[in-house]
Amino acid sequence: MKFNLVFSLSVVASFAGAFPLGSLGLASWDVEGYAKDNPIGVTTGGKGGETVTVETVTDFNAAVKDDKPRIILVKGNLNFTSRPKIGSNKSIIGVRKTAHITGSGLDIFHVDNVIVQNLKISFIFDNDCITIRNSTRVWIDHNEFASDISKGPDYYDGQVDIIRASDWVTVSWNYFHDHWKSSLVGNDDTLRDVDFGHLHITYHHNYWRNEGTRGPAGRFGHQHVYNNLYADFLYQAIHSRSDNQVLVEGNVFRGNTREALSTYGLVIPDDSPNTCVCGDEELDGFANLGAKNDWGGAGVNITQFGDFVKAPYKFKLTPLFLVSTVVKLGAGIGKI
Ligand SMILES: *[C@@H]1O[C@H](CO)[C@@H](O)[C@H](O)[C@H]1NC(C)=O
Ligand SMILES: *[C@@H]1O[C@H](CO)[C@@H](O)[C@H](O)[C@H]1NC(C)=O
Ligand SMILES: *[C@@H]1O[C@H](CO)[C@@H](O)[C@H](O)[C@H]1NC(C)=O
Ligand SMILES: *[C@@H]1O[C@H](CO)[C@@H](O)[C@H](O)[C@H]1NC(C)=O
Repeated sequence: MKFNLVFSLSVVASFAGAFPLGSLGLASWDVEGYAKDNPIGVTTGGKGGETVTVETVTDFNAAVKDDKPRIILVKGNLNFTSRPKIGSNKSIIGVRKTAHITGSGLDIFHVDNVIVQNLKISFIFDNDCITIRNSTRVWIDHNEFASDISKGPDYYDGQVDIIRASDWVTVSWNYFHDHWKSSLVGNDDTLRDVDFGHLHITYHHNYWRNEGTRGPAGRFGHQHVYNNLYADFLYQAIHSRSDNQVLVEGNVFRGNTREALSTYGLVIPDDSPNTCVCGDEELDGFANLGAKNDWGGAGVNITQFGDFVKAPYKFKLTPLFLVSTVVKLGAGIGKI
């Protein structure tokens, strides 16, 4: 049964253009988690607005900047020299496998209701691939993020960083690879007054391969981390610190990973070697484990359990034995 199902899935995948995982009932292909179920309403992006196709930096910037609902289809390589600011009510969707962003990444600052799908974002200098700051209802889905991990922790910045009281975010089906610092939630332990009680984020069905730290690392918020595949996530994958809470379930770790999950407040030197050689001490975070995880031999250091024991919404949990197959088939660009 097990092997037949995995085999059938692979066969289905090799024939399908748009991947039918959603219809197979194994996982949700639609927005799910905090970007869907939250007090302000489901994230719809540009739904109901005009659809435009952009192929240049100038046209992209013009299409994203106001707050009118708009669906922006992106084609080709866009090499930004400064970071575009995305307005509210936008869906930014790459066309097939053509949309590639380099140079500078995207700022989602002080806005509400944004969807980013099917973009490849790589080799972004001096800042994150995507920064979500003081923004609500954001869905980052089916993108690919990559650079060069051999450059060390501080050459590139984060892949998807979510900061300054942002809330109701889902990060799903992304392929994060060959990069050190992946996803930081809450960027400073002195920002308790700003961040505490916000930063509700769902991470599901992401494929992390050959990464260093922060898959994700959270402060002061709540993150539900389920059904992700971690392959060679080298130093520390999930880190919960400064009274942050994580609910970790149905994830699979493969290859070489020192620590899959830690709530010990120490920010390890592999993560921030620029501060202190011994690492920085912060308060511990909390973690709870829901459905069984497959740690694959990686370390787990839970210093305290919290009260985030169950997701406050319905979601489709992929059975643990299928997570690796389903995530590899479904994550990244060219799948939607
Ligand atoms: C987003 O669009 C909705 C519907 O058109 C509108 O009510 C809302 O004000 C817009 N948001 C912003 C920040 O302009
Ligand atoms: C992007 O533009 C910069 C110069 O502004 C250049 O150095 C770099 O090679 C370009 N990258 C790509 C992928 O075209
Ligand atoms: C956060 O964003 C809102 C708009 O949604 C803005 O009114 C407010 O000034 C921003 N707060 C900060 C601290 O930037
Ligand atoms: C686990 O956490 C404890 C603090 O409770 C710490 O003393 C220990 O060094 C941690 N283990 C690792 C491997 O970091």
